[in-house]
Amino acid sequence: MNDGPVAGRRVLIAGATSASGAAVARALTSAGASVVAVGTRPDALEALRTSVPGVTTHTCDLADPGAVSALADEVRAASGSVDGLVHLVGGWRGGGSIVGQSDEDWAFLERGFRTLRNTTRAFHDDLVASPAGRLAIVSSTAVASPTAGAADYAAAKAAADAWVRAVAQGFRKDAPRAAAAIVVVGGLAGLEDRLGDEVVRLWAAAPADVNGVRIPLVPSGAGTPEPRMKP
Ligand SMILES: NC(=O)c1ccc[n+]([C@@H]2O[C@H](COP(=O)([O-])OP(=O)(O)OC[C@H]3O[C@@H](n4cnc5c(N)ncnc54)[C@H](OP(=O)(O)O)[C@@H]3O)[C@@H](O)[C@H]2O)c1
Repeated sequence: MNDGPVAGRRVLIAGATSASGAAVARALTSAGASVVAVGTRPDALEALRTSVPGVTTHTCDLADPGAVSALADEVRAASGSVDGLVHLVGGWRGGGSIVGQSDEDWAFLERGFRTLRNTTRAFHDDLVASPAGRLAIVSSTAVASPTAGAADYAAAKAAADAWVRAVAQGFRKDAPRAAAAIVVVGGLAGLEDRLGDEVVRLWAAAPADVNGVRIPLVPSGAGTPEPRMKP
């Protein structure tokens, strides 16, 4: 039986059907958590259920605030309130120059940010009420080193980063048992399992040690990672 710090916790993964979503779901279930996985494609969620047995799935367009509010009610009714929210909706758009940043690309990226805003608002009170509430997102090194060709992408990821640090400030003030953390990566390919491990570790850490912290995720052998940055 698994009796580590995340065992018995319920964690919702928002945008769970990518390789990183499957890795995080696998790491959490292996550590004894129950995972609620959300995406828009029923077939991809079914594939996730096959590859990570035990995961519960819900179909929802997380960019739609009404649908997210209904999802939160549905999850609480079916399983109970959640202890963790791991937000993985992303996607890259870019290329060209500042003038060449397209409105279509910005609409796509802003929609991704909206899924974070909607899910954190809908599940915020669950995280505050939990004895060990945790929120995690994956941000990009592009926030600290933006390029003209990917200005829209960097701006959208910076908005997500700021939003999560704002959630962390609220937790620091009103919910000292909760923490909101930002994992920062250049590219995720090959680092999915390490991401899963970092997410699980959030429950082993004291909330004050990870709340508002930016956690660098670098490939092994890439040298000493930059230190974790506290707000
Ligand atoms: N990949 C990288 O190299 C990299 C680098 C830096 C940061 N990141 C960040 O890391 C995180 C994970 O990235 P990733 O590349 O693994 O994932 P991704 O390809 O961006 O995955 C998107 C996930 O979100 C779901 N999704 C998209 N729109 C949705 C919506 N409106 N409602 C509900 N679910 C939705 C997708 O499932 P459906 O298609 O079924 O909806 C899929 O499961 C993202 O935040 C990304 O920005 C990634």
